[in-house]
Amino acid sequence: MNTLETISARHSYRGLYQDVPVPREHLKMILEAGCAAPSGCNKQTTSFIAVDDPNLKEQLFTVITRGLGKTAPAMICILTRKIIAYADRTFYIQDYSAAIQNMLLAIEDLGYASCWVEGHVTGTDRIGEKMAAMLGVPDDYELICYLPVGIPAEVCKLVEKQPFEERAWFNGFGK
Ligand SMILES: Cc1cc2nc3c(=O)[nH]c(=O)nc-3n(C[C@H](O)[C@H](O)[C@H](O)COP(=O)(O)O)c2cc1C
Repeated sequence: MNTLETISARHSYRGLYQDVPVPREHLKMILEAGCAAPSGCNKQTTSFIAVDDPNLKEQLFTVITRGLGKTAPAMICILTRKIIAYADRTFYIQDYSAAIQNMLLAIEDLGYASCWVEGHVTGTDRIGEKMAAMLGVPDDYELICYLPVGIPAEVCKLVEKQPFEERAWFNGFGK
């Protein structure tokens, strides 16, 4: 797929996964896509932990109560450092969003499915903190998201996007 085809094809997948491992080589390519993302003032505030050890993954899913992506053979946990990038400004949210999107596109391009799971991880039940403790993440990093990675076993329904004309214009709002 070329880049624009990959962007169009990407969608969130919340179904079951095939019991087929993701080769380390592919996980490394996905992580490299994350590392290649732009970051505010090049502070590179985002870090990554790929999990492909079935025992560790099972342990993580004892705290991931909604179980999204539980059958995926691998997952990527996204860590951020909430540091000042410039003057009094932070860009860590933009940094990790760019990294996540890069990885979602790499995942799609390699023929896998995934979902950006952040809302559930950073909610009041503090799942991200519990996952971070299991992964030995230092205190100055926060685990804010995970991406399941694997070959989908089901066909999923795509969400509807608003019509192009209602969201994007040329030379002025609504034009
Ligand atoms: C910041 C952010 C947080 C998200 N958190 C979750 C989540 O916790 N659980 C989930 O199922 N999907 C989550 N998603 C995925 C969105 O629900 C999904 O991207 C949206 O419905 C559009 O669908 P699409 O990805 O198929 O285009 C999140 C997406 C973003 C950008």
